[in-house]
Amino acid sequence: MNTIDLRSDTVTQPTDEMRRAMAAADVGDDVWGEDPTVNALEERAAELLGKEAGIFVSSGTMGNLVSLMAHVPRGGEVIAGAQSHIVRDEAAGHAVVVGASVLQLRDRPDGTLDPDDIAGAFRDPSDPHEPITSLVALENAHSHSGNQPIGIAATARIAAVAHGRGVPLHVDGARFFNAVVALEVTADELAAPADSVTFCLSKGLSCPAGSVVVGERGVIARARRARKLLGGGMRQAGVLAAAGLVALRDGDAGMITRLADDHANARRLAERLAEVPGVGSPGDIAQPGGDDRLDPARATTNFVLFRVAADRAAFLAATESRGVRLDGYPHGQVRAVTHHGIIAADVDRAVDVIAAALAEVRGARVAVPS
Ligand SMILES: Cc1ncc(COP(=O)(O)O)c(C=O)c1O
Repeated sequence: MNTIDLRSDTVTQPTDEMRRAMAAADVGDDVWGEDPTVNALEERAAELLGKEAGIFVSSGTMGNLVSLMAHVPRGGEVIAGAQSHIVRDEAAGHAVVVGASVLQLRDRPDGTLDPDDIAGAFRDPSDPHEPITSLVALENAHSHSGNQPIGIAATARIAAVAHGRGVPLHVDGARFFNAVVALEVTADELAAPADSVTFCLSKGLSCPAGSVVVGERGVIARARRARKLLGGGMRQAGVLAAAGLVALRDGDAGMITRLADDHANARRLAERLAEVPGVGSPGDIAQPGGDDRLDPARATTNFVLFRVAADRAAFLAATESRGVRLDGYPHGQVRAVTHHGIIAADVDRAVDVIAAALAEVRGARVAVPS
């Protein structure tokens, strides 16, 4: 029986269509701007998100880093959520490479930052003691809240605070299209308040590698210089960009609209897990409030976060030995992520396996599903 890998949507495999497009891609030297497939991908991404220009980069981390380098001077400061990927999971690139500090705000359960907190976090530019507030960064969808999508109005409110102080807004949209699909908005509407957006091709969109940053021409020109500085100029990168062009096709030909299937599967998983003894609320910002029961309504995109009333390491080992892989997430949580490789029957089998594994590690006797 196949392993059901729910650790992340980064485990997705390129589709047959992508592999064909990659094999047939016209390529050139992208550092010289001569790779027609990379150029087409950058134009397509910019068009979809309603921005002037785009740049193809190797990863979401590089997308955020070149965006920070494009917006933030040395000695600058970024206002960002304490639980954001930029703060927690990018090896302090803001400090090491950009030379910037981050003023960390409390992330809210809906994935947003409080506009009043942001307004209060700005430094005094006339005081030479203080760093220079140079960027507000938002994560959409927001992973630690359970991948909550942040809507247009909330994004616009935050952008208004930033722009009112002459500072741009960057959106880390690693799973931006999950937000677009969940909110039933268009990508350009959701991207409109932001000055730059990076999105990953290699997560729910199933490409083997790559992210795109979009923004106005000047921002992308600076990001291009930053990419070169980081050694991220990839020459005949069209073989990778070709998969991205397949992913960004309209309708059923592409990989965006089908994200709705992943969201439906995540909701199905959450609803069933809520009934499993020993599965409980993930707590923290993923499910605030005193309810111990997992709330399926928090599964708004493709993440299900929960806690188990058992030793977590033993539980994860017990599901893995039965062919279901889950992620040990921060805050003592367990993460299950639905994606292109997961169908509804996998969800049902995963629930049975989780129930059996939990019963085992909690000491009960149950039949192990085959
Ligand atoms: C919210 C968020 N931003 C950025 C990234 C970085 O993407 P990559 O792994 O491609 O560097 C991730 C990766 O999981 C992410 O979840």
